[in-house]
Amino acid sequence: MKDELKDANFPTTADKRVYHLGLKKGEVANRMLVVGDSGRARMLAENFDSQPFHLRSDRGFECYTGTYNKTPISVLAIGMGFSAMDFLVREARACVDGDMVVIRMGSCGSLNPDVGVGSTVTPVAACAVTSDYDYFTQEDYAGEPYRISKPVAADPDLHQALFSTVKEAHEFNNADAGTDAPSPCLGDIVNASADSFYSSQGRIDPSFADTNTTLLQNIIDRVPNVTTLEMETHQLFFLAHLANKRQEGTGTDQPTMQNAPKPPTHGKIRAAAVQMVFAARASRAFISPAQVKQLQTWVGRACLDTLAAFHIPVEATQTDGIWN
Ligand code: URA
Repeated sequence: MKDELKDANFPTTADKRVYHLGLKKGEVANRMLVVGDSGRARMLAENFDSQPFHLRSDRGFECYTGTYNKTPISVLAIGMGFSAMDFLVREARACVDGDMVVIRMGSCGSLNPDVGVGSTVTPVAACAVTSDYDYFTQEDYAGEPYRISKPVAADPDLHQALFSTVKEAHEFNNADAGTDAPSPCLGDIVNASADSFYSSQGRIDPSFADTNTTLLQNIIDRVPNVTTLEMETHQLFFLAHLANKRQEGTGTDQPTMQNAPKPPTHGKIRAAAVQMVFAARASRAFISPAQVKQLQTWVGRACLDTLAAFHIPVEATQTDGIWN
């Protein structure tokens, strides 16, 4: 039997664990490295100074918390998609006092033939590509099958810190050596995050009426500098934007209500992302397992180095935790 839940708005267990991540205050660090893959998280946690705390929730979310260069960091594996990122950001926010510094490290597809498999990109912003469900179910619907949102920006300081560390690591690891084509390391491109790996990333599947044959070209035509496709970064940047607005006391309908809840004094969410190109959409090339291993090792260390070095004011850092 599950522990009794207190609050339907934001369910937590009797011992104050958030419902889906399974974590409670003190088990998550202010600095977070978020990946999709369980094996990638385990590999990254091997860089910690000593054996980390590890928890796998009933829903499959995993958290490793330890220290790296003596700085508390959590590596979290969340799976894929907007909803997985939504669970992570909202529930981790409830477990951490002060600023939250979040780097998403993940794989992506590339829309640019010059940015091939093995390339590394640190997007300045991300837009969302979502199915407009009514298009597919309503007769005479006037809209288009897919909505392409305006881009939302990464945190500028964290983005800059991450890109310069990734670029240095790219040069140090001589990442182009032995490859047929150069694998660029870019920091000024825009990501498109899609609500499906298939339909809204323009993959053609004869089993479904996806109406997506022109979608990739539409994305390229409408979003300046768009280069990569994946499924999480927009949700991270978007939620950071909403949380930071709330901290500033703007962007909510709640103050108009009597007895409106006060915004929690949490601090900011500062978010950035780095993406490894696994799929080149024009050539249909896909990365090899050996390339993945090599790439995620040095990109992962660059993320940990960035997080450990990123300044958080002392008053915006949680001090109690299992790493003490
Ligand atoms: N992740 C995605 O969402 N799409 C790709 O093509 C590769 C990784």
